[in-house]
Amino acid sequence: MTETMVWVDGRLVPSHLATVSALDRGLRSGEGVYETLRVREQRSFRLLAHLDRLEAGAGTLGIRVDPATVRAGIAAVVTSNDHLGDDVVVRVTCTAGPMDLTTPFPGTGVGPPTVVITAQRTRAPGAPPRPPARGRLVDLRRELPMIKSTAYLLSLVAQREARAHGASDAILCDPAGRPLEAATANLAAVVDGRLVTAPVSAGILAGVTRTALCEVAAGCGLVVEERTLEREELLAAREALLTSAVRGVQPLVSIDARAIGDGAAGPVTARLRASLDALIDATAEPLVLSRPADG
Ligand SMILES: Cc1ncc(COP(=O)(O)O)c(C=O)c1O
Repeated sequence: MTETMVWVDGRLVPSHLATVSALDRGLRSGEGVYETLRVREQRSFRLLAHLDRLEAGAGTLGIRVDPATVRAGIAAVVTSNDHLGDDVVVRVTCTAGPMDLTTPFPGTGVGPPTVVITAQRTRAPGAPPRPPARGRLVDLRRELPMIKSTAYLLSLVAQREARAHGASDAILCDPAGRPLEAATANLAAVVDGRLVTAPVSAGILAGVTRTALCEVAAGCGLVVEERTLEREELLAAREALLTSAVRGVQPLVSIDARAIGDGAAGPVTARLRASLDALIDATAEPLVLSRPADG
């Protein structure tokens, strides 16, 4: 069997040998950021936007990441894992690196980061397409929502609660109980011919796919309105959807077991999905930049 390769701090190693320090600050206190991106045939949609968000989030935590090195790592991981197929999910994890035990907690400054890059199958071979999402409103809020942090406990707890109630996705709410985003995706609804999605300032992740969705909305006859939805408004919406780099556009057909629209994937969502897929096909960025031909 072919061994899956993992990038750890600049080196490709077989997955069973991929290790990081027991003193890693990501392990000890969740000091880290990550990105998840989909790579198809060696190209990834808005790769630079993902690298920018990684660098910015890391910077907020005092971690210095070199986007060019990460890009090279992504290319190396994808190329060395042919056996996973040509449609994979790449995860880049970047933490604050090992603690210095000679200085008192919390230590001074942040040393070289730990960078781990993995590629994983998008879905099992022959598996059916992902069904529409069913949401459950969960009264939990992400800390520092603008950072895609490795401190992921809240999202896991929220997802567990959603699944325990027969839903596929937790929908996180603001302090007033208004739906903001899913635990691992952004949320939008079709209301009166408008595409309504919470503004980043409301406390959501600035999703790369959400930005692209807003760009294609006009071509689908929708005006984009960035404002927080009321609970009842989401329930009364004609259609609703989730977006992320891994799922693209996914219809959201119910909330707390109450149907949105007629409880099935709707035509506006289908148009948005087709437009986004076309944009992805046309503009996905190659992992490796081709060099100009020699002299
Ligand atoms: C909380 C949250 N919101 C939104 C998203 C979607 O972001 P993107 O479109 O950049 O994948 C994610 C992705 O993991 C997420 O974790």
